[in-house]
Amino acid sequence: MKNPEESLKSIISHSKEYGFIFPSSEIYDGLSATYDYGPLGVELKNNIKSYWWKSMTQLHENIVGLDSAIFMHPKTWKASGHIDAFNDPLIDNKDSKKRYRADVLIEDYIEKIKQKIEKEVKKGKKRFAEKFDEDEFRATNPNILRNKTKILDIESKMKKSLEENNLEDVKKLIEDLGIKCPVSGSKNWTDVRQFNLMFSTNLGSVSGESSEIYLRPETAQGIFVNFLNVQKSGRMKIPFGIAQIGKAFRNEIVARQFIFRMREFEQMEMQFFVRPGEEIKWYEYWKDARIKWHKELFLGEERYRFHDHIKLAHYANAASDIEFKFPIGFKELEGIHSRTDFDLKQHEEFSGRKLQYFDPEIGESYVPYVVETSIGLDRMFLAVLSASYTQEKLEDSSERVVLKIPKKLSPYKAAILPLLKKDGLPELARKIMQDLTPYFMLQYDEKDSIGKRYRRQDAIGTPYSVTIDHDSLNDNSVTIRDRDSMNQHRIKIDELKDFLDKNIFI
Ligand code: GAP
Repeated sequence: MKNPEESLKSIISHSKEYGFIFPSSEIYDGLSATYDYGPLGVELKNNIKSYWWKSMTQLHENIVGLDSAIFMHPKTWKASGHIDAFNDPLIDNKDSKKRYRADVLIEDYIEKIKQKIEKEVKKGKKRFAEKFDEDEFRATNPNILRNKTKILDIESKMKKSLEENNLEDVKKLIEDLGIKCPVSGSKNWTDVRQFNLMFSTNLGSVSGESSEIYLRPETAQGIFVNFLNVQKSGRMKIPFGIAQIGKAFRNEIVARQFIFRMREFEQMEMQFFVRPGEEIKWYEYWKDARIKWHKELFLGEERYRFHDHIKLAHYANAASDIEFKFPIGFKELEGIHSRTDFDLKQHEEFSGRKLQYFDPEIGESYVPYVVETSIGLDRMFLAVLSASYTQEKLEDSSERVVLKIPKKLSPYKAAILPLLKKDGLPELARKIMQDLTPYFMLQYDEKDSIGKRYRRQDAIGTPYSVTIDHDSLNDNSVTIRDRDSMNQHRIKIDELKDFLDKNIFI
């Protein structure tokens, strides 16, 4: 069993080797926290996008799409609160000149204490063997209890000082805990200061005429400012939703863990506009709908959990994250937020335009309330990839790496493999390929032994391999091999399309 760091490393190198994800600008030694999607990556990403898009728009009569610009009027970000409050607490080490998120330094320290607890449990298991009662041990061992109290104390101090924006106290906590810079090993810290996560640039090319604008840190604001355009042009009736997929940019201080936290990433967001007072009903509806959407991919029910927010952002009256068990542990994959009428009201105030809806059913105008579902596309990609990545020992004691990607999301749906490069087999294989290509993404491969070719398809997650052999020339049948079970059976060539249709898009 690999440790989490090792399994993430295996996924990263597999992604690169097979053309899913490359480090960006690699020939210049890369650019931190930016990644490029290769030929297979872009297919998987597009399939995730359309799975989400279809579930939102095609399957909901009252949800329509939008593709708003990345650049928006700077006032947008004043209204949304991003200019004043989209900050992370930052601290520098004076010796290494490395920059850290102060809260992450403290969280990493807490993580080390947690590891000490786990070590203690391991020791106990070894010492007491069969008599070991883990729950009781965790509840009574003095070292564990002391460390648990320590964690609670640190967490509550950190929470208090961050909530009060008391950056001096955050620094004091780092100093009191004796946290050292992981690079220099010194405790020579600067003061903690707030760092705004938005990237800015200038609009206009003539010097003196330019004005500062921002790269959007979320796609949601493009939806809010278009609320009336969409409602009026589409004659939408509340409740209705607007869905959008697009890039977002955040100058994350600590951007590591592969595509989990990037500076340029994609979001799939949906804002659902509802009658005031009905938002909690819809919030519950979307929580339920979104977890079902995830579970229908069969990546493993145990990999999901909700994390309901206790401390809410000032604009929200309910919020929950769907967390996914990544190789780095349970982390946020998607947020479901009841954002009240905060955003629309702010945009009304800053733009001077009314953003209201006349509700014919109750004969009243109001600013709608909003329930948002927001998922990171790249995080969803990592969720699919990490849950699918499997190393298997086979009966003949050889090993295979197989990506058990949900079939409807896999980059290629089938591989077309003539057994030999002669005797008319490639010609028949090409004919099959030609007939099926309009319906499915297929890969043709005639190089190397059939065993090697199966392994290659396993490694990129192709659900079915279709082998054309000498019998195929006489009986119009081929062998179809299932990626996950490795079972093979014969099937008539003219039944292939139906078979793939039925077995892939389930
Ligand atoms: N409009 C709400 C919003 O943006 P968020 O919790 O800040 O909420 C939503 O982000 C989702 O976007 C997260 O659940 C995560 O999946 C994704 N996300 C956020 N920051 C990210 C980053 N730096 N890299 C990759 N994905 C990110």
